[in-house]
Amino acid sequence: MKTILVTGGAGYIGSFTVDKLVEKGFNVVVVDNLSSGNLKNINENAEFRKIDLLDKEALEKVFSEFQIDAVIHFAAKIEVEESMYKPKKYFDNNILGGLNLLEAMKESNVKNIVFSSSAAVYGIPNAKKVSEEADKKPINFYGQTKLWFEQLLHWYDELFGIKSVCLRYFNAAGAALDGSKGEIREKETHVIPILFDKIRKQQPFSIFGDDYPTRDGTCVRDYIHVLDLADAHIRALSYLENNNESNVFNVGTSEGISVKELVDYAQKIAAQTTKIEIAPRRPGDPPFLVADNTKIKQVLNWQPKYSDVSTILESAWKWMNRK
Ligand code: UFG
Repeated sequence: MKTILVTGGAGYIGSFTVDKLVEKGFNVVVVDNLSSGNLKNINENAEFRKIDLLDKEALEKVFSEFQIDAVIHFAAKIEVEESMYKPKKYFDNNILGGLNLLEAMKESNVKNIVFSSSAAVYGIPNAKKVSEEADKKPINFYGQTKLWFEQLLHWYDELFGIKSVCLRYFNAAGAALDGSKGEIREKETHVIPILFDKIRKQQPFSIFGDDYPTRDGTCVRDYIHVLDLADAHIRALSYLENNNESNVFNVGTSEGISVKELVDYAQKIAAQTTKIEIAPRRPGDPPFLVADNTKIKQVLNWQPKYSDVSTILESAWKWMNRK
């Protein structure tokens, strides 16, 4: 059976993907520095090495210890706001760390990589539904590092024949359907966990801006369930195993939900309300970010199964109320 190296496999999306890989019978080696990932997230049937991608030697050792067939690369810094005042941290982790990984792959002759990219590469799209061909003009440094790494992947294919699939995630959300696993972050910035936390504690929830040019004035996003994201990685891997060319796919539902709509749904699911306040706009927020997902449906035969708003919110609410 094939062995897959998963960087960032102790994180939110990474660990759901590791579970799915293990379920499908892959051998999995998780590499994570645990800076934001959690030991508890790592599947018990996966090997784990606590390594920072900036430690090139340690990384190379893993490639000699295991016969790696392909890599799924999640490990990255992901906080948009922080990236605007600590750009070097983002450059070091997302670019230099990633480059060490590509070099280690090159040295060990590993030819396939699936990369966690982001809708943040588009910046503020012109179209209502953004396709992979749209202009890439990131409006935050985080998105810029994702775009640069996509470009590095292009060159590692040109120069060394390393094939890649870049998956541009829209808004990852939700938890295991039974609520047994979900998002754990020291500093939470994402809307759904914050919203449920505020509802539970009966504290006010702040909507960041209600004067955007959208249907109700609040930002519209395309929320995609983490299980559907995990499935996209398995499909991307088999696409590469079948000797296809490097490619890029949006991973979203093609349906937009506004922050106000999300607040209404969440209060229904929790069967509780809380005070809603309108706060100033948050810097770096595009008003409208919804995927055109035609390509991933056609090429990878992928379909979202769990990404309707009620499944996303019900699973997240169960996770929030875990014992
Ligand atoms: N929001 C609030 N109040 C909060 C938190 C968020 O109103 O307390 C709003 C935000 O302003 C935004 C929406 O909820 O309009 C979604 O915010 P998130 O922080 O949950 O998600 P983002 O859309 O900002 O970020 C996501 C990913 C990033 C990725 C980005 C692409 O988390 O990694 O999409 O633009 F870069």
